[in-house]
Amino acid sequence: MDIEELLQWTDEQVVANTGKHLDSLQKAILEGVWQHQNYEEIADTHHLGYDHVKKQAWRLWKLLSETLGEDVKKSNVCSVLENRVISNIYNKGERAQMQIFSHINGTVTICGENTPSPSPPDSPQNKNLSPIIDLRDAPALIDSSHRTSELSTLKQWILQTGTRLIAIYGLSGIGKSALALKLIENIQTEFDCIIWRSLSNAPTLSTLQTELKQFFCRWQPTPLPTVIDYFRSSRCLVILDDVQNIFKPGQLAGQYLAGCEDYGKFFQQVATSSHQSCLIIISWEKPRELTPLEGENRPARTLHLQGLAEQAAREILIEKGLTDEDKWSELIALYQGHPYWLNIIASTIVELFNGSVSRFLAGGTRIFLGDLEPLLESHLVRLSELETKVSYWLASQAQAVDISDVPADRDLSQSEVWQAIQSLARRGLVEKVQVGAEVRFRINPVFQHYIQRKLR
Ligand SMILES: Nc1ncnc2c1ncn2[C@@H]1O[C@H](COP(=O)(O)OP(=O)(O)O)[C@@H](O)[C@H]1O
Ligand SMILES: [Mg+2]
Repeated sequence: MDIEELLQWTDEQVVANTGKHLDSLQKAILEGVWQHQNYEEIADTHHLGYDHVKKQAWRLWKLLSETLGEDVKKSNVCSVLENRVISNIYNKGERAQMQIFSHINGTVTICGENTPSPSPPDSPQNKNLSPIIDLRDAPALIDSSHRTSELSTLKQWILQTGTRLIAIYGLSGIGKSALALKLIENIQTEFDCIIWRSLSNAPTLSTLQTELKQFFCRWQPTPLPTVIDYFRSSRCLVILDDVQNIFKPGQLAGQYLAGCEDYGKFFQQVATSSHQSCLIIISWEKPRELTPLEGENRPARTLHLQGLAEQAAREILIEKGLTDEDKWSELIALYQGHPYWLNIIASTIVELFNGSVSRFLAGGTRIFLGDLEPLLESHLVRLSELETKVSYWLASQAQAVDISDVPADRDLSQSEVWQAIQSLARRGLVEKVQVGAEVRFRINPVFQHYIQRKLR
């Protein structure tokens, strides 16, 4: 956020309240305070008397207090205005690229460094109408109005059962980030601080924790030793996206990269310590630590995100201008309601068949992959050798398999097959199916087709 945006927003509020714009001295005072100038420095910069500036500033704080309905003074004007502007941007649903710290020479504010925080809430249970939110790392908010059942599940876990650790995992492009953004939009007033961090660069835990603590300081100005301490003293919602980047490729799912091993302990600690906050992990792979901690009345939950329901998926096809509606269900089922895959395939149908789904499906190839191939490959390259062997075996099977049937010809022991299936399921690549009273496993059909093609 820059001073121009802030001045413009403040001016609009003052006009709405008084019918008059901010005058040039009022703007100069705001700009000076934003740049950490004292009244004397502001007076010098504008060749004015100190007393005059001080008196006008006092009037300005009074005007802003009346306009905003909260106590505004020199020491808190920056944080009050920033928070108001941020909440306003967010509530309008615009891209939440909130450079909330950027005014201090582009660097992040350090605890206690002249950065007053807004007044704490009366009690943690109070709804906070203007939480501080940092979504600089989040992707653009798309209009994904569906996922109502997933949203209500997440809301219930967070607001009713007080779940402290949630993992949302699933294939790339399935809509994990979109869902989490929608969730924030729904529950933001329940929190004091909300921060989104992408782990795409695999930061060390200590780097991440330092960043989180710097952010929380804006709400809770007394520095606290650990992130968990902030989780106790305020109601924080932390979203860690792209968490698969701290896991090792070429290994079974959920094994940490060298230097990132302590994340596992941190996740456990978040789940098992008592506090009022929530950590959401978004990943292609389910972290292993969650399994023993999850369940009803347990501190952790996992949401394996699957494709969209048919009606939601149809909207993607409507937006792309496809025709032959009677064939849409078939197309959606073929691509499993996966929103990103459907977007890509719909574009192909427009390019090659002028939008005709019938002509696309009549093409013969059961599942056309085209531009999906690199996306599928990005998952397969992460598999361990054992998982690759087992996934190739599964891809060669026409039916879901009973995992007691170990393929004799593939040099795999039963325990290796089980271990690989468990890991592939934690990546959302293998699904459990119920056949009568029996449990069987099958590889995701789109991946099955891709692997079969690779083998040809
Ligand atoms: N609920 C939805 N409705 C329509 N399109 C969606 C929905 N969720 C995701 N998408 C589409 O899929 C793309 C990938 O979603 P994203 O949330 O980035 O996936 P992920 O985080 O799982 O990789 C989005 O850019 C959007 O185009
Ligand atoms: Mg994402």
